[in-house]
Amino acid sequence: MNTKTHWENIYSTKAADAVSWYQSHPVQSLRLIRQVVGDDTTASIIDVGGGASTLVDHLLDAGFTDVTVLDISANALASAQARLQERARRVAWLEADVLALQMPSHPFDVWHDRAVFHFLTAAEDRRRYVQAVHRAVKPGGSVIVATFAEDGPSQCSGLDVARYSADQMHAAFGAGFKLITSTREDHHTPFGTVQKFIYCLCRKEASGSGLLQ
Ligand SMILES: C[S@@+](CC[C@H](N)C(=O)[O-])C[C@H]1O[C@@H](n2cnc3c(N)ncnc32)[C@H](O)[C@@H]1O
Repeated sequence: MNTKTHWENIYSTKAADAVSWYQSHPVQSLRLIRQVVGDDTTASIIDVGGGASTLVDHLLDAGFTDVTVLDISANALASAQARLQERARRVAWLEADVLALQMPSHPFDVWHDRAVFHFLTAAEDRRRYVQAVHRAVKPGGSVIVATFAEDGPSQCSGLDVARYSADQMHAAFGAGFKLITSTREDHHTPFGTVQKFIYCLCRKEASGSGLLQ
């Protein structure tokens, strides 16, 4: 089954709040976004693999005016749009594979990804992902990526994942990104289990390619 088919199936058979990664309040993501943009609600933010996440709701609540949600699954985006109703018009929605999309050049202040990068178990896919980050994020912009931690589960949504420490994730992004901070989270799934996540905040340096070799 290809990636898109997998995710369309997930979002057509499960409610948005019944998937293991569901969060009603994405506390760490919001805290790290605030850390980098402060009170600047005009900052341009992309949630990569945002799916049906409530992050976009909270960003709109906080007054952010330049929010993009990218996901490979049309069903996921439709679910978020239905929840937001009228407010969905204030968001840019991109149905795309982050590994295949030709990103526009440097529009984003903040790249956020919770639980997408960890699916990239092939070096070539990680290289393409980092290339997309380089292209899409402004020099000096911020990259917030959350994955399962070293002691987290080995699968997510039935798919194998790569698990990271902060240093391993920073190394995966390569030179050209400065690790600013990292934090761990015990994520409580809707089924009462706990998954160990790690969030890394990196700043994209103003110069240098930093692409994985
Ligand atoms: C585990 S879910 C996490 C969703 C959301 N970030 C959250 O934290 O609630 C992974 C999401 O990534 C999306 N996804 C997986 N591979 C992708 C790809 N190559 N390009 C874009 N989105 C992808 C899936 O459709 C799904 O919505």
